[in-house]
Amino acid sequence: MTMLEALNEIETNAMSELAQVNSADSLESWRIAYIGTKGKIRSVMPMMKDVPGDQKAAIGKRLNEVKSALDSGFKSKQSELGAGGGGKAAGPALDLTEPGLIDSKSVGKEHIITRVRGELVEIFARLGFEVAQGPELEDDEHNFVKLNIPDAHPARDPIDNFYVDDPHEVDTPRMLRSQTSTVQIRTMEDAVAKGWGPPIKIVSPGRVYRPDTVDATHSFMFHQIEGLFVDKGVSMSDLMSTLLQFARAYFGEDADVRLRPSFFPFTEPSAEFDMMIALKPGTDPDWIELGGCGMVDPNVLSASGIDPEVYTGFAFGFGIERIAMGKYGIPDIRMLFENDIRFLQRV
Ligand code: DAH
Repeated sequence: MTMLEALNEIETNAMSELAQVNSADSLESWRIAYIGTKGKIRSVMPMMKDVPGDQKAAIGKRLNEVKSALDSGFKSKQSELGAGGGGKAAGPALDLTEPGLIDSKSVGKEHIITRVRGELVEIFARLGFEVAQGPELEDDEHNFVKLNIPDAHPARDPIDNFYVDDPHEVDTPRMLRSQTSTVQIRTMEDAVAKGWGPPIKIVSPGRVYRPDTVDATHSFMFHQIEGLFVDKGVSMSDLMSTLLQFARAYFGEDADVRLRPSFFPFTEPSAEFDMMIALKPGTDPDWIELGGCGMVDPNVLSASGIDPEVYTGFAFGFGIERIAMGKYGIPDIRMLFENDIRFLQRV
């Protein structure tokens, strides 16, 4: 058989077999048999050396014709099968959701603070609290004045706050907020202005800034989560039961809460709250100081446009780093911000 006859025969057989192909698997077998690296087209190529010199060009042309006829026959069959209603796509299955070949140690994950913040928000959401936000660049109106913190209060000392030089400053100095309690004011103002509350029931996690000297337990930036519930008839026992339900949901059924009398300008009465918790599973529970709380001071309600004769509220605020450090056995707050990759991988 001459090479020309062989080529003609391959073409005829290939095309009639291709017409019978009706699945991705049989198309793949056809491809291997005819146009694969060990297929029929390849196998006739060595015959070229026996073709007489004056016919080489014509036979070479014919070879290319047959090849491209088979290639395009393959492609159109492939798209026909791929488009066929519910038919299996041609070619090996490709699962686009399958993870790549990456060393699992180099896959990123949430920072521990982000994770704990998410866990806290989720629990308060189950207790009916929505998430509210406020700016980190604040004014002293929201950070102090409306929170009932008078001009002469030591907390307002420029040494203890990051005031900023602000060319657009109008009538109130601007600063990086030193507490998330600012969001209490912002949320109440918004609720009154837009008429969506009270009732107001929010938590607000976020960064706060204080020019503290950095050491194992202090940082110039850290995170707090603030809570506020304002409605008719909200009482201290609602505060207590909210904190208790939170403690049990986050730290387990054995958790307990206690309030110790304290003072904050924006709550009356005020308390510090401790939780009896086993921070790490398997350890004995102990009292851990978590933060401050109390009944929202009537002055704070009226500064935000809410009538304290009609409404009452409770508020609380605590540090997120403290919980993260306890829960994950982190001895030094700096580890949370240095971003040492070995630490980030471990927690
Ligand atoms: N803002 C206070 C602080 O940074 C914490 C705090 C205390 C928040 C009492 C409150 C509260 O909402 O009622 O130290």
